[in-house]
Amino acid sequence: MSLVSPWRADFPALAILEAQGQTYLDSAATAQKPQALIDALSGYYTCGTANVHRAQHQPAERATRAFEDARVKVAKWLNASCPTEIVFTRGATEALNLLAYGLEHLIEADDEIVVSALEHHANLLPWQQLARRRGARLIVLPLDARGRINMDAARQLIGSRTRLLAVSQLSNVIGSWQPLPDLLPLAKAQGAMTVVDGAQGVVHGRHDMQALACDFYVLSSHKLYGPEGVGALYGRGESLLKLKHWQFGGEMVRIADYQHAEFHAAPLGFEAGTPAIGSVIGLGATLDYLSKLDATAVAGHEQALHQGLLAGLAIRDGIELLGEPQVALVSFTVAGVHHGDLAHLLTDQGIAVRSGTHCAQPLLKSLGIEGATRVSLGLYNDGDDLGRFFGALDRALDMLR
Ligand code: ALA
Repeated sequence: MSLVSPWRADFPALAILEAQGQTYLDSAATAQKPQALIDALSGYYTCGTANVHRAQHQPAERATRAFEDARVKVAKWLNASCPTEIVFTRGATEALNLLAYGLEHLIEADDEIVVSALEHHANLLPWQQLARRRGARLIVLPLDARGRINMDAARQLIGSRTRLLAVSQLSNVIGSWQPLPDLLPLAKAQGAMTVVDGAQGVVHGRHDMQALACDFYVLSSHKLYGPEGVGALYGRGESLLKLKHWQFGGEMVRIADYQHAEFHAAPLGFEAGTPAIGSVIGLGATLDYLSKLDATAVAGHEQALHQGLLAGLAIRDGIELLGEPQVALVSFTVAGVHHGDLAHLLTDQGIAVRSGTHCAQPLLKSLGIEGATRVSLGLYNDGDDLGRFFGALDRALDMLR
């Protein structure tokens, strides 16, 4: 397949992995990094680190400026109305836990928290545990056959007891966009808060927070070609005011006494301890890099690769897809073949795909399967990657069947 990625050379790891005989098709788990990020990290650590928001000396001022510049870049990437609507966290999972603790005081016994059947554990367990702490009910929206939230069921299940709706934008297992423009207003009409897990969605296309009109949106940097250890919580200005502080220490405090303390508002009040300064700056550099790409060309390339992946799977016997993947990834099972055995043989041939329950055990159980193989794509993948994958898949299936 002659699909070429014009951006592949921007990611030095791809050539090294290729020289090692590795084909990387696991970008939904974590993405490879552009040279622009590597340069930014190297520049920050080489030129002198300093803590942010704490000191007046010049290195600290430089680090604080770069850190706050990154906040502006994330706000722009999401079209937030103001950089103070961006809170840096240690990842999407921490952002969701922050919300589950920060909003706890608004949840009472018999209230309902609504999630969907396809949530990643990170957008299920914090709400499940919150419901248990407060005696609230966790309501699970079912899916249709394509792997999208069933809107008829959502209209029935989102009601006057709903206090919060937390849903994924793009499923990390099925690759299906969720019907957020129809779904979020159902919760809003009941006065409920809305939380969107954008960990996968943010990687594919630009999403406008002001148009999406959710209260909160979370993302993780490492899936968006940025460094690990950092994520962001977007919160609409008035929604952030509802959050109670959840982690204490460092520069989140305004006034502290032995028996009493007062805290900053968001964002600083929710960034306890020394943040991942280098990673935040690196995320900013990654967004600079991504912002310069032709977004239409990136989307077109990703769609062409995805179509190639779907077409190649469709002509092979016994392969069943999970739902109807729309972008970036495909999960599948093979009749009579255990996903673990397939993973083993693909790994032996240098194919890096993910196999198992994909941090979504309840979803796989609801589909009646123990595990699946997932192929996921980044903007640097090309037709040769798919060719190597299909060659390895055919050899593996020949051995297993
Ligand atoms: N959430 C990541 C994935 O889907 C780790 O693989």
